[in-house]
Amino acid sequence: MLRRALKWTAFRSLSIDHLRPLLSSHSSPSNFSSSTSLRTPTDNFTDRAVEDVAYPSITPSPPSATIAIDRSGLCNPPEHSHEATADSEIVRHLKSIIKFRGGPISVAEYMEEVLTNPKAGFYINRDVFGAEGDFITSPEVSQMFGEMIGVWAMCLWEQMGQPNKINFVELGPGRGTLMADLLRGTSKFKKFIESLSVHLVECSPTLQKLQHSNLKCVDENGIGENATISTLAGTPVSWHPTLEEVPSGVPTIIIAHEFYDALPIHQFQRTSRGWCEKMIDVADDSLFRFVLSPNPTPANIFLTRRFNWAAEDDLAKLGQIEVCPRAMELTESIAKRISSDGGGALIIDYGLNGIVSDSLQAIRKHKFVHILDSPGSADLSAYVDFASIRHSAEEASENVSVHGPITQSQFLGALGINFRVEALLQNCTDDQAESMRAGYWQLVGEGEAPFWEGPDDQVQIGMGTRYLVMAVVNKKQGAPVPFES
Ligand SMILES: C[S@@+](CC[C@H](N)C(=O)[O-])C[C@H]1O[C@@H](n2cnc3c(N)ncnc32)[C@H](O)[C@@H]1O
Repeated sequence: MLRRALKWTAFRSLSIDHLRPLLSSHSSPSNFSSSTSLRTPTDNFTDRAVEDVAYPSITPSPPSATIAIDRSGLCNPPEHSHEATADSEIVRHLKSIIKFRGGPISVAEYMEEVLTNPKAGFYINRDVFGAEGDFITSPEVSQMFGEMIGVWAMCLWEQMGQPNKINFVELGPGRGTLMADLLRGTSKFKKFIESLSVHLVECSPTLQKLQHSNLKCVDENGIGENATISTLAGTPVSWHPTLEEVPSGVPTIIIAHEFYDALPIHQFQRTSRGWCEKMIDVADDSLFRFVLSPNPTPANIFLTRRFNWAAEDDLAKLGQIEVCPRAMELTESIAKRISSDGGGALIIDYGLNGIVSDSLQAIRKHKFVHILDSPGSADLSAYVDFASIRHSAEEASENVSVHGPITQSQFLGALGINFRVEALLQNCTDDQAESMRAGYWQLVGEGEAPFWEGPDDQVQIGMGTRYLVMAVVNKKQGAPVPFES
Protein backbone atom coordinates (compact mmCIF):
# COMPACT_ATOMS: atom_id res chain seq x y z
CA MET A 1 0.00 0.00 0.00
CA LEU A 2 1.17 3.48 -0.75
CA ARG A 3 0.93 5.72 2.24
CA ARG A 4 3.14 8.57 1.30
CA ALA A 5 2.69 11.06 -1.47
CA LEU A 6 4.76 10.35 -4.51
CA LYS A 7 7.60 12.57 -5.43
CA TRP A 8 6.84 13.86 -8.90
CA THR A 9 9.57 13.64 -11.44
CA ALA A 10 10.50 16.88 -13.17
CA PHE A 11 10.34 16.49 -16.91
CA ARG A 12 11.99 18.19 -19.77
CA SER A 13 9.42 20.61 -21.14
CA LEU A 14 8.07 20.37 -24.67
CA SER A 15 5.45 22.35 -26.47
CA ILE A 16 2.52 19.99 -26.23
CA ASP A 17 -0.35 22.45 -26.49
CA HIS A 18 -1.79 20.70 -29.52
CA LEU A 19 -1.81 17.44 -27.57
CA ARG A 20 -3.79 18.76 -24.62
CA PRO A 21 -7.18 17.49 -25.87
CA LEU A 22 -5.72 14.01 -26.17
CA LEU A 23 -3.97 14.10 -22.83
CA SER A 24 -7.02 15.35 -20.98
CA SER A 25 -9.58 13.25 -22.87
CA HIS A 26 -11.13 9.95 -21.83
CA SER A 27 -10.53 10.78 -18.20
CA SER A 28 -11.49 7.46 -16.78
CA PRO A 29 -8.83 5.10 -15.59
CA SER A 30 -9.23 1.58 -16.88
CA ASN A 31 -6.67 -1.09 -16.14
CA PHE A 32 -4.79 -1.05 -12.89
CA SER A 33 -2.05 -3.37 -12.02
CA SER A 34 -0.34 -4.35 -8.84
CA SER A 35 2.73 -5.16 -10.78
CA THR A 36 5.67 -7.06 -9.44
CA SER A 37 8.70 -8.14 -11.37
CA LEU A 38 9.89 -6.65 -14.63
CA ARG A 39 11.58 -8.55 -17.37
CA THR A 40 14.84 -6.63 -17.33
CA PRO A 41 17.73 -9.06 -17.28
CA THR A 42 20.34 -8.86 -14.59
CA ASP A 43 23.98 -9.58 -14.88
CA ASN A 44 24.28 -13.17 -15.93
CA PHE A 45 26.42 -16.16 -15.21
CA THR A 46 29.74 -15.70 -16.87
CA ASP A 47 30.66 -18.97 -18.44
CA ARG A 48 34.33 -19.75 -18.69
CA ALA A 49 36.01 -22.23 -21.00
CA VAL A 50 37.81 -24.91 -19.03
CA GLU A 51 39.12 -27.14 -21.77
CA ASP A 52 40.55 -26.25 -25.14
CA VAL A 53 39.37 -29.28 -27.09
CA ALA A 54 36.66 -29.83 -29.69
CA TYR A 55 33.41 -28.55 -28.16
CA PRO A 56 34.98 -27.89 -24.75
CA SER A 57 32.38 -27.75 -22.01
CA ILE A 58 31.90 -24.56 -20.02
CA THR A 59 31.54 -24.36 -16.28
CA PRO A 60 29.34 -21.63 -14.81
CA SER A 61 31.17 -19.24 -12.50
CA PRO A 62 29.64 -16.60 -10.20
CA PRO A 63 27.69 -13.75 -11.80
CA SER A 64 29.81 -11.25 -13.69
CA ALA A 65 29.47 -7.52 -13.45
CA THR A 66 29.64 -7.14 -17.22
CA ILE A 67 26.33 -5.32 -17.23
CA ALA A 68 25.29 -3.45 -14.12
CA ILE A 69 21.54 -3.87 -13.83
CA ASP A 70 19.30 -3.46 -10.87
CA ARG A 71 18.16 -6.95 -9.95
CA SER A 72 16.51 -6.10 -6.68
CA GLY A 73 13.01 -6.83 -7.98
CA LEU A 74 13.86 -10.43 -8.61
CA CYS A 75 15.54 -13.32 -6.87
CA ASN A 76 19.12 -14.20 -7.69
CA PRO A 77 19.52 -17.07 -10.11
CA PRO A 78 20.46 -20.39 -8.49
CA GLU A 79 24.03 -21.55 -9.05
CA HIS A 80 23.23 -24.96 -10.52
CA SER A 81 19.66 -25.70 -11.32
CA HIS A 82 19.70 -26.39 -15.01
CA GLU A 83 18.48 -29.92 -14.79
CA ALA A 84 16.26 -30.43 -17.81
CA THR A 85 12.78 -31.83 -17.32
CA ALA A 86 13.50 -35.14 -18.99
CA ASP A 87 10.10 -35.84 -20.42
CA SER A 88 8.80 -32.44 -21.52
CA GLU A 89 8.00 -32.16 -25.21
CA ILE A 90 10.41 -29.30 -25.87
CA VAL A 91 13.29 -31.07 -24.07
CA ARG A 92 12.75 -34.19 -26.21
CA HIS A 93 12.60 -32.01 -29.30
CA LEU A 94 15.83 -30.14 -28.45
CA LYS A 95 17.65 -33.38 -27.67
CA SER A 96 16.51 -34.94 -30.93
CA ILE A 97 17.82 -31.96 -32.92
CA ILE A 98 21.20 -32.28 -31.18
CA LYS A 99 21.26 -36.06 -31.66
CA PHE A 100 20.30 -36.13 -35.33
CA ARG A 101 22.54 -33.24 -36.22
CA GLY A 102 25.38 -35.01 -34.44
CA GLY A 103 26.47 -31.91 -32.55
CA PRO A 104 25.42 -28.96 -30.43
CA ILE A 105 23.02 -26.19 -31.41
CA SER A 106 23.60 -22.44 -31.13
CA VAL A 107 22.13 -20.42 -28.27
CA ALA A 108 20.03 -18.67 -30.94
CA GLU A 109 18.49 -21.93 -32.12
CA TYR A 110 17.85 -22.98 -28.52
CA MET A 111 16.23 -19.61 -27.78
CA GLU A 112 14.03 -19.74 -30.86
CA GLU A 113 12.81 -23.28 -30.13
CA VAL A 114 12.25 -22.57 -26.45
CA LEU A 115 10.24 -19.41 -27.08
CA THR A 116 8.38 -20.01 -30.30
CA ASN A 117 8.37 -23.71 -31.16
CA PRO A 118 4.89 -24.04 -32.68
CA LYS A 119 3.89 -26.91 -30.37
CA ALA A 120 5.61 -26.26 -27.06
CA GLY A 121 7.27 -22.83 -27.14
CA PHE A 122 7.03 -20.61 -24.07
CA TYR A 123 4.77 -18.05 -25.80
CA ILE A 124 2.67 -20.47 -27.77
CA ASN A 125 0.15 -22.00 -25.37
CA ARG A 126 -0.29 -19.63 -22.47
CA ASP A 127 -0.68 -16.10 -21.13
CA VAL A 128 2.70 -15.31 -19.60
CA PHE A 129 2.03 -11.74 -18.48
CA GLY A 130 1.05 -10.04 -15.22
CA ALA A 131 1.17 -10.92 -11.54
CA GLU A 132 -0.12 -14.45 -12.24
CA GLY A 133 2.24 -14.96 -15.16
CA ASP A 134 6.01 -14.79 -15.47
CA PHE A 135 6.76 -11.08 -15.88
CA ILE A 136 5.15 -7.67 -16.26
CA THR A 137 5.51 -5.16 -19.09
CA SER A 138 4.80 -1.40 -19.29
CA PRO A 139 1.39 -1.69 -21.02
CA GLU A 140 0.29 -3.99 -18.18
CA VAL A 141 1.52 -1.50 -15.58
CA SER A 142 -0.74 1.37 -16.66
CA GLN A 143 -3.15 2.39 -19.42
CA MET A 144 -1.08 5.58 -19.74
CA PHE A 145 1.67 3.70 -21.55
CA GLY A 146 -0.52 2.74 -24.53
CA GLU A 147 -2.12 6.18 -24.48
CA MET A 148 1.26 7.92 -24.75
CA ILE A 149 2.26 5.69 -27.66
CA GLY A 150 -1.04 6.84 -29.20
CA VAL A 151 0.07 10.46 -28.76
CA TRP A 152 3.35 9.66 -30.51
CA ALA A 153 1.59 7.88 -33.38
CA MET A 154 -0.88 10.75 -33.89
CA CYS A 155 1.97 13.27 -33.99
CA LEU A 156 3.77 11.18 -36.61
CA TRP A 157 0.55 10.86 -38.63
CA GLU A 158 0.24 14.67 -38.55
CA GLN A 159 3.85 15.04 -39.67
CA MET A 160 3.07 12.64 -42.52
CA GLY A 161 0.31 15.04 -43.69
CA GLN A 162 -2.60 13.12 -42.18
CA PRO A 163 -2.78 10.32 -44.78
CA ASN A 164 -6.22 8.74 -45.01
CA LYS A 165 -4.78 5.20 -44.95
CA ILE A 166 -2.22 3.90 -42.48
CA ASN A 167 -1.01 0.39 -41.81
CA PHE A 168 -0.63 0.44 -38.05
CA VAL A 169 1.57 -2.51 -37.13
CA GLU A 170 2.40 -3.85 -33.70
CA LEU A 171 5.13 -6.47 -33.42
CA GLY A 172 4.53 -8.96 -30.58
CA PRO A 173 1.44 -7.38 -28.99
CA GLY A 174 1.31 -9.72 -25.96
CA ARG A 175 -2.17 -9.43 -24.49
CA GLY A 176 -3.08 -6.58 -26.85
CA THR A 177 -3.17 -4.16 -23.93
CA LEU A 178 -1.01 -1.46 -25.53
CA MET A 179 -3.11 -1.45 -28.70
CA ALA A 180 -6.40 -1.48 -26.75
CA ASP A 181 -5.33 1.54 -24.64
CA LEU A 182 -4.05 3.32 -27.73
CA LEU A 183 -7.30 2.79 -29.65
CA ARG A 184 -9.45 3.83 -26.67
CA GLY A 185 -7.26 6.88 -26.09
CA THR A 186 -7.34 8.09 -29.68
CA SER A 187 -10.91 6.99 -30.55
CA LYS A 188 -12.27 10.55 -30.42
CA PHE A 189 -9.86 11.66 -33.14
CA LYS A 190 -12.01 10.42 -35.98
CA LYS A 191 -9.78 11.31 -38.89
CA PHE A 192 -6.83 9.52 -37.33
CA ILE A 193 -8.82 6.48 -36.23
CA GLU A 194 -10.56 6.12 -39.58
CA SER A 195 -7.21 6.02 -41.34
CA LEU A 196 -6.00 2.99 -39.38
CA SER A 197 -5.77 -0.62 -40.41
CA VAL A 198 -4.33 -2.50 -37.45
CA HIS A 199 -1.91 -5.36 -38.23
CA LEU A 200 -0.70 -7.53 -35.37
CA VAL A 201 2.42 -9.65 -35.89
CA GLU A 202 2.06 -12.50 -33.43
CA CYS A 203 3.32 -16.09 -33.46
CA SER A 204 1.22 -17.37 -30.57
CA PRO A 205 -2.31 -18.63 -31.31
CA THR A 206 -3.17 -18.31 -27.61
CA LEU A 207 -2.09 -14.67 -27.50
CA GLN A 208 -3.84 -13.96 -30.82
CA LYS A 209 -7.11 -15.09 -29.18
CA LEU A 210 -6.42 -12.90 -26.16
CA GLN A 211 -5.67 -9.93 -28.42
CA HIS A 212 -8.92 -10.57 -30.32
CA SER A 213 -10.79 -10.54 -27.02
CA ASN A 214 -9.02 -7.52 -25.47
CA LEU A 215 -9.48 -5.45 -28.62
CA LYS A 216 -13.18 -6.41 -28.44
CA CYS A 217 -13.06 -7.70 -31.98
CA VAL A 218 -16.06 -8.91 -33.91
CA ASP A 219 -15.77 -10.95 -37.07
CA GLU A 220 -17.95 -9.58 -39.83
CA ASN A 221 -18.76 -10.96 -43.23
CA GLY A 222 -17.70 -8.21 -45.56
CA ILE A 223 -18.27 -8.09 -49.29
CA GLY A 224 -16.14 -10.88 -50.67
CA GLU A 225 -14.09 -11.46 -47.53
CA ASN A 226 -14.26 -11.75 -43.78
CA ALA A 227 -13.15 -8.76 -41.75
CA THR A 228 -12.32 -8.47 -38.07
CA ILE A 229 -13.19 -5.13 -36.52
CA SER A 230 -12.11 -3.82 -33.13
CA THR A 231 -15.23 -2.31 -31.60
CA LEU A 232 -13.02 -0.11 -29.38
CA ALA A 233 -12.65 2.28 -32.29
CA GLY A 234 -14.17 0.58 -35.34
CA THR A 235 -10.78 -0.23 -36.85
CA PRO A 236 -10.08 -3.34 -38.96
CA VAL A 237 -7.62 -5.77 -37.36
CA SER A 238 -5.65 -8.61 -38.92
CA TRP A 239 -2.95 -11.02 -37.74
CA HIS A 240 0.29 -12.03 -39.46
CA PRO A 241 3.17 -14.36 -38.55
CA THR A 242 5.85 -11.91 -39.78
CA LEU A 243 6.21 -8.26 -40.80
CA GLU A 244 6.88 -9.36 -44.39
CA GLU A 245 3.30 -10.62 -44.59
CA VAL A 246 1.75 -7.28 -43.66
CA PRO A 247 0.56 -5.73 -46.94
CA SER A 248 2.77 -2.91 -48.19
CA GLY A 249 2.12 0.14 -50.38
CA VAL A 250 0.47 2.22 -47.64
CA PRO A 251 2.19 4.57 -45.13
CA THR A 252 3.12 2.49 -42.11
CA ILE A 253 3.58 3.07 -38.39
CA ILE A 254 5.28 0.20 -36.55
CA ILE A 255 5.42 -0.27 -32.78
CA ALA A 256 7.85 -2.81 -31.30
CA HIS A 257 7.55 -2.88 -27.54
CA GLU A 258 9.56 -5.64 -25.87
CA PHE A 259 9.76 -7.52 -29.15
CA TYR A 260 13.44 -7.24 -30.04
CA ASP A 261 14.58 -8.69 -26.70
CA ALA A 262 12.80 -11.97 -27.54
CA LEU A 263 14.67 -12.38 -30.84
CA PRO A 264 17.29 -15.15 -30.79
CA ILE A 265 20.86 -14.10 -30.05
CA HIS A 266 24.18 -15.80 -30.71
CA GLN A 267 26.79 -15.70 -27.94
CA PHE A 268 30.53 -15.66 -28.59
CA GLN A 269 33.47 -15.97 -26.26
CA ARG A 270 37.09 -14.91 -26.81
CA THR A 271 39.49 -17.85 -26.42
CA SER A 272 43.13 -18.62 -27.24
CA ARG A 273 41.79 -19.82 -30.63
CA GLY A 274 39.96 -16.58 -31.30
CA TRP A 275 36.22 -15.96 -31.03
CA CYS A 276 34.26 -19.18 -30.48
CA GLU A 277 30.47 -19.52 -30.50
CA LYS A 278 28.81 -20.73 -27.33
CA MET A 279 26.66 -23.77 -28.14
CA ILE A 280 24.31 -26.09 -26.27
CA ASP A 281 24.91 -29.82 -26.10
CA VAL A 282 23.68 -32.83 -24.13
CA ALA A 283 26.19 -34.22 -21.63
CA ASP A 284 26.66 -37.92 -20.74
CA ASP A 285 24.31 -37.48 -17.78
CA SER A 286 21.62 -36.37 -20.28
CA LEU A 287 21.61 -32.76 -19.02
CA PHE A 288 22.01 -29.77 -21.29
CA ARG A 289 25.36 -28.00 -21.02
CA PHE A 290 27.21 -25.15 -22.70
CA VAL A 291 30.16 -25.92 -24.96
CA LEU A 292 32.33 -23.82 -27.26
CA SER A 293 32.55 -24.34 -31.02
CA PRO A 294 36.01 -25.49 -32.10
CA ASN A 295 35.75 -23.67 -35.44
CA PRO A 296 34.02 -20.60 -36.85
CA THR A 297 30.26 -21.09 -37.27
CA PRO A 298 27.87 -19.60 -39.88
CA ALA A 299 26.98 -16.87 -37.35
CA ASN A 300 30.56 -15.56 -37.51
CA ILE A 301 29.49 -13.48 -40.48
CA PHE A 302 27.23 -11.44 -38.16
CA LEU A 303 30.00 -11.20 -35.57
CA THR A 304 32.25 -9.65 -38.21
CA ARG A 305 29.46 -7.28 -39.20
CA ARG A 306 28.96 -6.20 -35.59
CA PHE A 307 32.70 -5.72 -35.07
CA ASN A 308 32.78 -3.40 -38.09
CA TRP A 309 30.42 -1.04 -36.27
CA ALA A 310 32.47 -0.99 -33.06
CA ALA A 311 35.43 1.10 -31.96
CA GLU A 312 38.72 -0.80 -31.66
CA ASP A 313 39.13 0.24 -28.04
CA ASP A 314 35.76 -1.27 -27.15
CA LEU A 315 36.58 -4.51 -28.95
CA ALA A 316 39.94 -4.86 -27.23
CA LYS A 317 38.23 -5.01 -23.83
CA LEU A 318 35.64 -7.61 -24.81
CA GLY A 319 35.66 -11.17 -23.53
CA GLN A 320 32.14 -12.05 -24.65
CA ILE A 321 29.61 -10.64 -27.07
CA GLU A 322 26.02 -11.25 -28.12
CA VAL A 323 24.86 -10.64 -31.68
CA CYS A 324 21.30 -10.78 -32.95
CA PRO A 325 21.08 -11.40 -36.73
CA ARG A 326 17.27 -11.44 -36.54
CA ALA A 327 17.29 -7.93 -35.05
CA MET A 328 19.52 -6.75 -37.89
CA GLU A 329 17.27 -8.36 -40.52
CA LEU A 330 14.07 -7.10 -38.92
CA THR A 331 15.47 -3.56 -38.77
CA GLU A 332 16.47 -3.75 -42.43
CA SER A 333 13.00 -4.84 -43.33
CA ILE A 334 11.46 -2.01 -41.24
CA ALA A 335 13.81 0.57 -42.80
CA LYS A 336 13.06 -0.58 -46.35
CA ARG A 337 9.32 -0.51 -45.77
CA ILE A 338 9.42 2.95 -44.21
CA SER A 339 11.64 4.12 -47.03
CA SER A 340 9.24 2.95 -49.73
CA ASP A 341 5.86 3.49 -48.01
CA GLY A 342 6.56 6.41 -45.64
CA GLY A 343 5.94 6.41 -41.90
CA GLY A 344 8.07 5.37 -38.96
CA ALA A 345 8.81 2.81 -36.29
CA LEU A 346 9.10 3.10 -32.54
CA ILE A 347 11.28 0.56 -30.75
CA ILE A 348 11.09 0.35 -26.96
CA ASP A 349 13.06 -2.19 -25.00
CA TYR A 350 15.70 -2.69 -22.39
CA GLY A 351 19.17 -2.56 -23.78
CA LEU A 352 22.34 -0.63 -24.37
CA ASN A 353 23.36 1.92 -26.96
CA GLY A 354 26.34 -0.27 -27.85
CA ILE A 355 27.75 -3.78 -27.67
CA VAL A 356 26.00 -6.21 -25.34
CA SER A 357 28.36 -8.78 -23.91
CA ASP A 358 26.43 -11.19 -21.70
CA SER A 359 22.80 -10.48 -20.92
CA LEU A 360 20.67 -13.52 -21.78
CA GLN A 361 18.31 -14.32 -18.92
CA ALA A 362 15.56 -16.79 -18.09
CA ILE A 363 12.61 -15.70 -15.94
CA ARG A 364 9.90 -17.95 -14.56
CA LYS A 365 7.15 -16.76 -12.22
CA HIS A 366 8.95 -13.46 -11.55
CA LYS A 367 12.21 -15.17 -10.58
CA PHE A 368 15.45 -15.62 -12.47
CA VAL A 369 16.30 -19.24 -13.26
CA HIS A 370 19.17 -20.82 -15.18
CA ILE A 371 18.91 -20.56 -18.97
CA LEU A 372 19.06 -24.34 -19.37
CA ASP A 373 16.59 -25.04 -16.58
CA SER A 374 13.38 -26.70 -17.78
CA PRO A 375 13.33 -25.11 -21.24
CA GLY A 376 9.94 -23.85 -22.42
CA SER A 377 8.74 -23.08 -18.90
CA ALA A 378 10.67 -19.80 -18.57
CA ASP A 379 10.96 -16.69 -20.66
CA LEU A 380 14.30 -16.06 -22.35
CA SER A 381 15.28 -12.52 -23.24
CA ALA A 382 18.41 -10.54 -23.96
CA TYR A 383 19.43 -6.91 -23.88
CA VAL A 384 18.83 -5.08 -27.15
CA ASP A 385 21.87 -3.60 -28.90
CA PHE A 386 20.40 -0.25 -30.04
CA ALA A 387 23.62 0.76 -31.82
CA SER A 388 23.27 -2.32 -33.99
CA ILE A 389 19.68 -1.33 -34.81
CA ARG A 390 20.87 2.14 -35.82
CA HIS A 391 23.58 0.78 -38.12
CA SER A 392 21.26 -1.82 -39.66
CA ALA A 393 18.62 0.83 -40.47
CA GLU A 394 21.14 3.32 -41.84
CA GLU A 395 22.80 0.68 -44.03
CA ALA A 396 19.45 -0.58 -45.31
CA SER A 397 18.19 2.76 -46.61
CA GLU A 398 19.43 6.29 -46.98
CA ASN A 399 15.84 7.52 -46.90
CA VAL A 400 15.38 6.86 -43.19
CA SER A 401 16.70 8.69 -40.15
CA VAL A 402 17.29 7.10 -36.77
CA HIS A 403 16.57 8.98 -33.53
CA GLY A 404 17.59 8.13 -29.98
CA PRO A 405 17.78 6.07 -27.99
CA ILE A 406 16.45 8.18 -25.16
CA THR A 407 15.19 6.83 -21.87
CA GLN A 408 11.55 5.84 -21.41
CA SER A 409 11.32 8.53 -18.74
CA GLN A 410 12.49 11.23 -21.17
CA PHE A 411 10.17 9.92 -23.89
CA LEU A 412 7.00 9.69 -21.79
CA GLY A 413 7.82 12.91 -19.94
CA ALA A 414 8.30 14.89 -23.14
CA LEU A 415 5.02 13.55 -24.52
CA GLY A 416 3.20 14.83 -21.44
CA ILE A 417 2.52 11.80 -19.25
CA ASN A 418 2.49 14.09 -16.20
CA PHE A 419 -0.46 16.01 -17.70
CA ARG A 420 -2.18 12.74 -18.46
CA VAL A 421 -1.81 11.34 -14.96
CA GLU A 422 -3.17 14.58 -13.52
CA ALA A 423 -6.20 14.40 -15.82
CA LEU A 424 -6.87 10.79 -14.86
CA LEU A 425 -6.51 11.54 -11.15
CA GLN A 426 -9.47 13.92 -11.38
CA ASN A 427 -11.84 10.98 -11.79
CA CYS A 428 -10.35 8.42 -9.42
CA THR A 429 -11.37 6.80 -6.18
CA ASP A 430 -8.63 6.91 -3.51
CA ASP A 431 -7.57 3.34 -4.25
CA GLN A 432 -7.51 3.99 -7.97
CA ALA A 433 -5.46 7.15 -7.42
CA GLU A 434 -2.93 5.22 -5.35
CA SER A 435 -2.61 2.59 -8.05
CA MET A 436 -2.45 5.24 -10.79
CA ARG A 437 0.39 7.08 -9.06
CA ALA A 438 2.26 3.83 -8.49
CA GLY A 439 1.87 2.91 -12.18
CA TYR A 440 3.02 6.36 -13.23
CA TRP A 441 6.09 6.08 -11.00
CA GLN A 442 6.90 2.63 -12.28
CA LEU A 443 6.85 3.83 -15.89
CA VAL A 444 9.08 6.87 -15.36
CA GLY A 445 10.89 6.25 -12.05
CA GLU A 446 14.33 4.87 -11.42
CA GLY A 447 15.57 2.34 -8.85
CA GLU A 448 13.37 1.10 -6.00
CA ALA A 449 10.06 2.86 -5.36
CA PRO A 450 10.72 5.43 -2.60
CA PHE A 451 7.17 5.10 -1.28
CA TRP A 452 7.18 1.31 -0.92
CA GLU A 453 6.37 0.00 2.54
CA GLY A 454 5.56 -3.63 1.73
CA PRO A 455 7.84 -6.69 1.68
CA ASP A 456 11.31 -6.02 0.28
CA ASP A 457 11.07 -8.76 -2.33
CA GLN A 458 7.98 -7.13 -3.85
CA VAL A 459 9.29 -3.59 -4.13
CA GLN A 460 8.44 -1.91 -7.42
CA ILE A 461 11.35 -1.11 -9.68
CA GLY A 462 11.25 1.96 -11.93
CA MET A 463 11.40 1.34 -15.67
CA GLY A 464 12.17 4.97 -16.51
CA THR A 465 15.86 4.66 -17.30
CA ARG A 466 16.24 0.95 -17.88
CA TYR A 467 14.05 1.04 -20.98
CA LEU A 468 15.23 2.91 -24.05
CA VAL A 469 13.26 4.35 -26.96
CA MET A 470 14.44 4.68 -30.56
CA ALA A 471 12.57 5.90 -33.65
CA VAL A 472 13.26 5.12 -37.31
CA VAL A 473 11.34 7.41 -39.68
CA ASN A 474 11.20 8.38 -43.32
CA LYS A 475 13.43 11.45 -43.71
CA LYS A 476 10.74 13.30 -45.66
CA GLN A 477 8.74 13.77 -42.46
CA GLY A 478 11.56 15.27 -40.42
CA ALA A 479 12.40 14.28 -36.86
CA PRO A 480 9.54 12.79 -34.85
CA VAL A 481 8.43 14.07 -31.45
CA PRO A 482 10.10 14.14 -28.96
CA PHE A 483 13.42 13.63 -30.74
CA GLU A 484 13.44 16.99 -32.56
CA SER A 485 16.37 18.70 -30.87
C1 LIG B 1 7.77 -9.98 -24.21
S1 LIG B 1 6.34 -10.15 -25.10
C2 LIG B 1 5.89 -8.45 -25.25
C3 LIG B 1 4.42 -8.27 -25.35
C4 LIG B 1 3.92 -6.83 -25.45
N1 LIG B 1 4.56 -6.08 -26.47
C5 LIG B 1 4.03 -6.14 -24.12
O1 LIG B 1 4.90 -5.31 -23.97
O2 LIG B 1 3.27 -6.47 -23.21
C6 LIG B 1 6.81 -10.65 -26.71
C7 LIG B 1 5.66 -10.78 -27.68
O3 LIG B 1 6.18 -11.09 -28.98
C8 LIG B 1 5.62 -12.32 -29.45
N2 LIG B 1 6.69 -12.96 -30.21
C9 LIG B 1 7.89 -13.36 -29.74
N3 LIG B 1 8.66 -13.83 -30.74
C10 LIG B 1 7.93 -13.70 -31.87
C11 LIG B 1 8.19 -13.99 -33.24
N4 LIG B 1 9.32 -14.53 -33.64
N5 LIG B 1 7.22 -13.72 -34.15
C12 LIG B 1 6.04 -13.16 -33.76
N6 LIG B 1 5.75 -12.87 -32.47
C13 LIG B 1 6.68 -13.14 -31.54
C14 LIG B 1 5.20 -13.06 -28.22
O4 LIG B 1 4.24 -14.04 -28.45
C15 LIG B 1 4.67 -11.88 -27.38
O5 LIG B 1 3.40 -11.48 -27.82
